[in-house]
Amino acid sequence: MGSRFSIDSGCYMTSLAATIFIASLVTFGVLMVTLLIAISTMLQSCENKNSGIIQVQRRLVVDDESLSYCRILSLHSNLNSLDEEELPLLCRDVALQRIKQGIYLRELNFTIQMVLTYFKTIKPGNDNRDVVVMDIDDINLIKQEVYIEEAKHQRSKLILELYSKLRSQGYSMVLLSRNSTAEQLKSRGYSDWSGLIMREDARQKEELERDYRIVGVIGNHMDVLTGQRSWQSKRLFKLPSLTYNDIFGLQ
Ligand SMILES: *[C@@H]1O[C@H](CO)[C@@H](O)[C@H](O)[C@H]1NC(C)=O
Ligand SMILES: *[C@@H]1O[C@H](CO)[C@@H](O)[C@H](O)[C@H]1NC(C)=O
Repeated sequence: MGSRFSIDSGCYMTSLAATIFIASLVTFGVLMVTLLIAISTMLQSCENKNSGIIQVQRRLVVDDESLSYCRILSLHSNLNSLDEEELPLLCRDVALQRIKQGIYLRELNFTIQMVLTYFKTIKPGNDNRDVVVMDIDDINLIKQEVYIEEAKHQRSKLILELYSKLRSQGYSMVLLSRNSTAEQLKSRGYSDWSGLIMREDARQKEELERDYRIVGVIGNHMDVLTGQRSWQSKRLFKLPSLTYNDIFGLQ
């Protein structure tokens, strides 16, 4: 008789049925708890992802603003001949980010492609008097980080390729430097140049301009191309250097 009990609805169950019922309730409960945990974990990770996206977007916006800010600071730093190293840490970080992201090398490559395209549209004359002057000094490069070394290496490679391509198109190449020696240039991979002139030597420049037609000057630094040292040349090209000023836009 004790094996029967009643519940309020008035339905009767055997104790076995009650055990099964309770067991299935427990199982159902465990399943629900598991499901709840699973759902809440999913929601949490969703939330993390969402906040990740928001963070990324926020960072991009900040970077855009930082870039404008750093461009303006860099322009004025340059205008007033201040040391680039005095730029705020933020700007140095932005510059390093741009190098790390490959933006710098893409800009350099783009400039080099433009130079090559130009020299393909003209042809060197048969009298061997058409020369291209190429500045091979690289000063004030950003120093800091290890990955800058890789960018410097890639940069040297791209510029040497540019030199070799122009050389093979029949242009006479004149190298321009402050103090590089022929040995140093050879060790950097340069060969077959028609002349090496020193930047401070005004006479060398005059002679070059008198005896040859300078069809292009390719500079790493703006002061090589303009100002006191302006050239009687058909075209001037500025290759972006690995300096803060060039990374924030040429001035
Ligand atoms: C430079 O640009 C050219 C043309 O867009 C491309 O073919 C070449 O792979 C690029 N080189 C590097 C090192 O990015
Ligand atoms: C050329 O000058 C730079 C600094 O202006 C110096 O670091 C470098 O050692 C010099 N090179 C030679 C060959 O004198």
